[in-house]
Amino acid sequence: MSGAPETTILISFAEDYFAAMSRELRRELPALSIERLGPDLAGVALKGIGIAELSGIVRDAPVAFVKHLSEEVSRLPFDGLPAVTAAAVAATGSRLRQGDEVALQCWVSGKARTDFGSSALFEAIMKAHTAEGFVVRRSGPEAILSACIHDKGISLGLATDRQALSNWPGGRVRLARPENSVSRAEFKLEELIATTDIDFPRRGKAVDLGASPGGWTRILRERGLEVWSIDPGDLAPPLLKDPLVHHERTTTGSFLHSTSLRFDLATNDMRMPPMLSCETMLEVARVLNQDALAVVTLKLGKNSPERTVRSCLSLLSRRYDVLLARQLHHNRHEVSVVARLAAARSRRRSEASR
Ligand SMILES: C[S@@+](CC[C@H](N)C(=O)[O-])C[C@H]1O[C@@H](n2cnc3c(N)ncnc32)[C@H](O)[C@@H]1O
Repeated sequence: MSGAPETTILISFAEDYFAAMSRELRRELPALSIERLGPDLAGVALKGIGIAELSGIVRDAPVAFVKHLSEEVSRLPFDGLPAVTAAAVAATGSRLRQGDEVALQCWVSGKARTDFGSSALFEAIMKAHTAEGFVVRRSGPEAILSACIHDKGISLGLATDRQALSNWPGGRVRLARPENSVSRAEFKLEELIATTDIDFPRRGKAVDLGASPGGWTRILRERGLEVWSIDPGDLAPPLLKDPLVHHERTTTGSFLHSTSLRFDLATNDMRMPPMLSCETMLEVARVLNQDALAVVTLKLGKNSPERTVRSCLSLLSRRYDVLLARQLHHNRHEVSVVARLAAARSRRRSEASR
C-alpha cells in the first residue's frame, strides 16, 4: 500500500494511559506510527485506511483507552488566531456548504503555549464561520470541527459525531452535579447513559452491586427502576425512605446465594480486583432475565492495564456480549463495560431467521 495517501488521526486518551492506548492500538494495527502531541493527545499516521475504519476498529476490538478521534486536516504553528481561524474556515468549507451546521470543539492538551486559550479560540473560529454563512453549535450537528492547542502546534480536525466516539471536545464530558447527588461515582453511570446510544432500561428490576453510598442507585431510581442495592456499607438517608429501594446490607456473594429474584439490569461498581469482579458477573448471569444489560467498572492496577481489560472481556464473553468497553472521562484508573446477557443473542438470531 506504499502509494496510498497518509492520514493523521488525532486521538485523545487519559494522561496516564498513553502506553496502554498505544499497545492496544498496535495489537489491532501493528507497526502503527504514534506521535505524542500533548499529555492526552497523540497523532497516528494511517495508510490505506481512514478515520471511519479506525473508529470501527476502536469500537469493535474494542480499544478501551481511546476517548476521541478526529482526522487532522492542518497543523499550524503558534502564530496567532487569524491564521488558525482562516485555516478552520477553509477546513469546514472543504466538506460543508454555506448554511450547513457544524459542531465546534476547542480544547487544550496540557498547558497552552499560545496567548489565547480554548474559549478565545472557540469565539474567533465561531465568528469567522458565521461570517462565511456556517451555523456553529457546541454539539448536535453530525459534522465536527476540532481545534486543539497542544505542545507541537494547533491541530484542526474533522470527523462525524459517530467517528469521533464522543460529542465533547477531546472526549472531556462535562456533567452538572445535581443537588440531590449522592456521590461522584454517579458521573460514571450518568456519562454512559448520556453519551452512548445504548438503550438502558427504564423499568423493571435492577441489582446494584457495591451500591454504597448510593449514587448509581439514585440514578437507576430516577430512570424508573426498582433497585436492590447490595453493599455492607450505608446508603444515603434519602434513598432509605424510598420504598422501591431495597438495601441488602451484605456482600454480593451472599445475596446471590439467597435470592430468588430476577433482574433486567445489573450494575457493578464494587471495589474489587477486576477479574474477581468479572467472575462475580458470571454468577450474576444466573439471576438475570433475557435481554438483561450489565454494567461493570473494571478497577485497573498499574501493570499492563490493557491486558487486564482483555482478560476481563474474555471472561465476560462466556455469558455476555460486550457492547462497549471504554475509559470514560469520569473513570480514573478504571474502564467501564456494558454487556448484554448472551442467551439473548441466540434467541434474537433464531427470531431473525424465521
Ligand atoms: C466505589 S464504591 C461504589 C459507589 C457507588 N457506585 C455510588 O455511586 O455511590 C465501591 C463499593 O463496593 C463495595 N464492595 C466491595 N466489595 C463488595 C462485595 N463483595 N459485595 C458488595 N459490595 C462490595 C464497597 O463496600 C464500596 O461501598
